[in-house]
Amino acid sequence: MKYIAPSFLSADIWQVAQQVSALEAAGCTYLHLDVMDGAFVPNISFGPGWIKGLRPHSRMTFDAHLMVEEPDRYLADFAAAGCQICTVHYEACKHLDRTLGHIRELGMAPGVALNPATAVSLLENVLDKVDLVLVMSVNPGFGGQKFIPQALRKLEQVRDARAALGKDFLIEVDGGVTAENAAEIAAAGADLLVAGSAVLAKADVAAAYRQLDAAVNRE
Ligand code: DX5
Ligand code: ZN
Repeated sequence: MKYIAPSFLSADIWQVAQQVSALEAAGCTYLHLDVMDGAFVPNISFGPGWIKGLRPHSRMTFDAHLMVEEPDRYLADFAAAGCQICTVHYEACKHLDRTLGHIRELGMAPGVALNPATAVSLLENVLDKVDLVLVMSVNPGFGGQKFIPQALRKLEQVRDARAALGKDFLIEVDGGVTAENAAEIAAAGADLLVAGSAVLAKADVAAAYRQLDAAVNRE
């Protein structure tokens, strides 16, 4: 089973409640939450306060993607806000092993994200400590960018490393996922496909979600 995780970044601020309800009614179980600090990435989005406000209104798994410097400073806030998955960037962590341990201690599933220019091999020493590996398929910071094809090879590398280790962490891909490329991306190894503009920027978010879900789960 493959999953589509719509990115809240692309939500229509005026229609958030209807959009989230429509996704849940369509069977969506993951909501991807892109947190940007204007330092690690050249954009600012939202923080734990917004997520906390959303939490009572949704049963979806909250998948937080922290595109921030020094994420350790905020981990407790994301746990308190009700995030179940908390992914930090390899490039933003001086002490990644400690940070991943901290996320787990706080009761969240730890994930590690790789920018497009960062090699999968650099994760060798943390693959036994994560519940999720996120392969960025755009340079983080903005929705609506074009999928970088090299991510397909990186997904295969992560999948091979997982098999070699006998692990079962989730493999997530983020950026430029569309109804046209989703099946190929899923086939390369992604279990969880983030989709921002391809779902929440559409007029009918439930229909867009269903179309992507069908594309990745057709056997
Ligand atoms: C990019 C974010 C993505 C973004 C994806 O920095 O991490 O999650 O919202 O948006 P699309 O699907 O439009 O590329
Ligand atoms: Zn993201």
